[in-house]
Amino acid sequence: MLSVALPKGRIAKETLDIFEKIFNKKFEFDDRKLILQTDDFKFLLVRNQDVPTYVYRQAADIGVVGLDVLEEQGLDVIRLLDLKKGRCKVAIGMKKGERLDLSKPQLKVATKMVNITKNYFEKRAVSVDIIKLYGSIELAPLVGLADMIVDIVETGTTMKQNGLEVVEEIMESSTYLIANKNSYIAKKDEILDIYEKIAKII
Ligand code: PRP
Repeated sequence: MLSVALPKGRIAKETLDIFEKIFNKKFEFDDRKLILQTDDFKFLLVRNQDVPTYVYRQAADIGVVGLDVLEEQGLDVIRLLDLKKGRCKVAIGMKKGERLDLSKPQLKVATKMVNITKNYFEKRAVSVDIIKLYGSIELAPLVGLADMIVDIVETGTTMKQNGLEVVEEIMESSTYLIANKNSYIAKKDEILDIYEKIAKII
């Protein structure tokens, strides 16, 4: 039995579709239920940002989560496989026409991804004032809360619609299959089996 943490929403659905293809049977959560128990798997429906926690603490053996979330949280889990879904970028956005000037003192950066932002500017030896927000990041430069944002860009529509543009890309992200380190030892055969089956069809 393997427990699998899935992030609520589209990625959970797409992952269950993969399992359906592999095992040729239906995998579907009942309305509002957070656990789906089958013969071989226990699927857990969790918030995207909580997937690494469930896996790191071995409440789940494996999980599915974006590389951006893994990088931001830095928890020690095994990155088994790039599922090549949920592709997006983490990028710096500014008001259209503005340019990134790292020599300017105390740039203000609004973001949900504080650690990725911190690491990025530290590597460039630039000190910035990081303002942690929980959503609607694109608003911050428009009302003077920040000079720029670090945020997820998927289609680019949200930035465009709010008069922002990407001035620099920080990283590319996609969805990864991850595993708990101890589970990977204790349940190696089971994990490698599902890993190979998934790898074959993506
Ligand atoms: C992300 C991100 C942007 C948007 C980018 O938010 O913060 O706002 O998606 O997508 P686009 O480039 O296709 O317009 P998300 O929808 O994940 O919601 P969240 O703020 O609740 O994380």
